[in-house]
Amino acid sequence: MNPILACDDSTRFAIVIHGGAYWGAEPEPARRTTLRKVAERAGRWLKDGAPALAVVEEVVVLLEDSGVFNAGRGSITNLAGDVEMDAAIMDGRTLDVGAVAAVSQLKNPIRGARYVMKWTPHVLLSGPSADDFLAAGGLETVDRTYFHAAKPKPDFEEKGTVGAVALDRCGNLAAGASTGGFTGKMAGRIGDTPIPGAGLYADNDLVAVASTGHGESFLKTVLAYEVAARMRFAKQPIEEAANNAVFETLEATGGQGGLIAVNSLGQTVSVYNSDGMLVETFTSESVLANED
Ligand code: GLY
Repeated sequence: MNPILACDDSTRFAIVIHGGAYWGAEPEPARRTTLRKVAERAGRWLKDGAPALAVVEEVVVLLEDSGVFNAGRGSITNLAGDVEMDAAIMDGRTLDVGAVAAVSQLKNPIRGARYVMKWTPHVLLSGPSADDFLAAGGLETVDRTYFHAAKPKPDFEEKGTVGAVALDRCGNLAAGASTGGFTGKMAGRIGDTPIPGAGLYADNDLVAVASTGHGESFLKTVLAYEVAARMRFAKQPIEEAANNAVFETLEATGGQGGLIAVNSLGQTVSVYNSDGMLVETFTSESVLANED
């Protein structure tokens, strides 16, 4: 990616990325290593002035292509044995948002989400019609053999929705997320990831949030927006808002998972009530620390 040197008003920037909440056993080192490398790359893009929206899109593309998460190449199959992927991206400057749901042919569903946001009057396109429309728009498509899970013997069990939130040097916030969905899902099921307010949210005046976990619980609680609402109406700081959203609202439904968030001050947070969540954070302070 060639960073666009427009966002250099401030020295402050931050990126938080996640590779999903998990239950039980610790994830393989491959996931941690991939996440760390991607976070560092994203941090350097932001340092060079890249816009938050472009950075979250490129981060999610890298995670989709890595094949070690439940997104893009590593997407799990539904109960019918098919891959159906969801993704969304949101621009904190304008509240513009684009999303795709239950797509099966796009190599990078997050690119589909960005395309929907930029080139259509809609927010969310779904299913084969979305695949066809986006393929006609020039987005790269793949056949079934591309996905690890569609092979007779997958290399290992892919896990983990992916997501990213970023603050750029212009003070703009963005959020993006992508997933193959939840284990055991029915054909046609759409989770929280492509739904604004549930799977993600971004508003420059408040916060950018990306969720991960049991999608139905995040849909019921509109949890990503709840963090923003707590900050806006209850004037809660980002950490308190995120903790209350997960440990009060999400838990009240019996839901499990977590979220990452960043605000315009560059304050970052990750909170989960599952056994764990894979998270990497890279901020302007991290860069300065590394360069000292
Ligand atoms: N949070 C991902 C899903 O439930 O689809």
